[in-house]
Amino acid sequence: MAEGTRLIRLALFGSPVAHSISPRVHGEFARAAGLDIDYSLIEATEDEFPAALAAFREGGGVGCNITLPLKSLALEQAATATRRAKEAGVANTLAWQDAGWHADTTDGVGLVRDLRDNLEVRLSGADICIVGAGGAAAGVLGPLLEQGPARLVLANRTLSRAERLARGQPRVRAMALGDLKRAGRFDLVIQATSLGLKGEAPPLPDGLLRDDGLVYDMIYGPGSEPVRALCERRGWAFCNGTGMLVEQAAESFELWTGQRPDTAPVIETLRAG
Ligand code: ATR
Repeated sequence: MAEGTRLIRLALFGSPVAHSISPRVHGEFARAAGLDIDYSLIEATEDEFPAALAAFREGGGVGCNITLPLKSLALEQAATATRRAKEAGVANTLAWQDAGWHADTTDGVGLVRDLRDNLEVRLSGADICIVGAGGAAAGVLGPLLEQGPARLVLANRTLSRAERLARGQPRVRAMALGDLKRAGRFDLVIQATSLGLKGEAPPLPDGLLRDDGLVYDMIYGPGSEPVRALCERRGWAFCNGTGMLVEQAAESFELWTGQRPDTAPVIETLRAG
């Protein structure tokens, strides 16, 4: 998509977006690739999003990321979409292609790459629990199932929401958060609720994690601190979503520019603070 040093106009839409580190991540990718990008943060509610997206396109925008609460709406705005975006029912990436927006969801592949390739967590044959059944969980369920876990439990405060997400997936068991104490132990617990953003951690029962297990929080930054603190108290291994953020960004960047960034140095820089 990029020609020579032409400026590539990109953006993140959502609410809130002010504290996002996506501009920094994409800035690092662009610098390494020798591309000139302008990645802006555009605060938009659901009502404002269609007009804001149209204005962005008018101004020469060719690609954007979408975060809460706009991920379902972004899929609706697209002319075409990848199979994984359609299956998840959400999009976190739009790319302008052939006179229309093309939607993709790169969160799932980003999570799998961080767990499997960066952290060397075994997903095939693993017992996995996802806590939460909102958009964040929906975006990663399919790619996690593709890795062939032995068991995948979807635990949510509102059982019906977990059941809806698990529908048509025979290998997924939906349960209420309160029933997790009877679900046995897991190799991997993925935190996909929005509670951390309110400074809280979900009520994870004592015996939830195997001794060599890992709790992975899909949130990064200060929002991941409550779950980190809970894991520290329990002596559980913990990782926040910084690596996932960088990996999903790399996938989006490749869709926009045709260039695959090297993620390791960016993750290292961000983890160093
Ligand atoms: P996202 O797109 O980040 O998943 P969402 O669709 O609003 O955002 O979903 C938020 C998730 O956090 C849901 O799983 C939600 O549980 P409910 O489906 O029961 O609402 C979960 N969540 C939010 N506040 C919670 C709380 N106080 N206790 C437990 N779970 C909570």
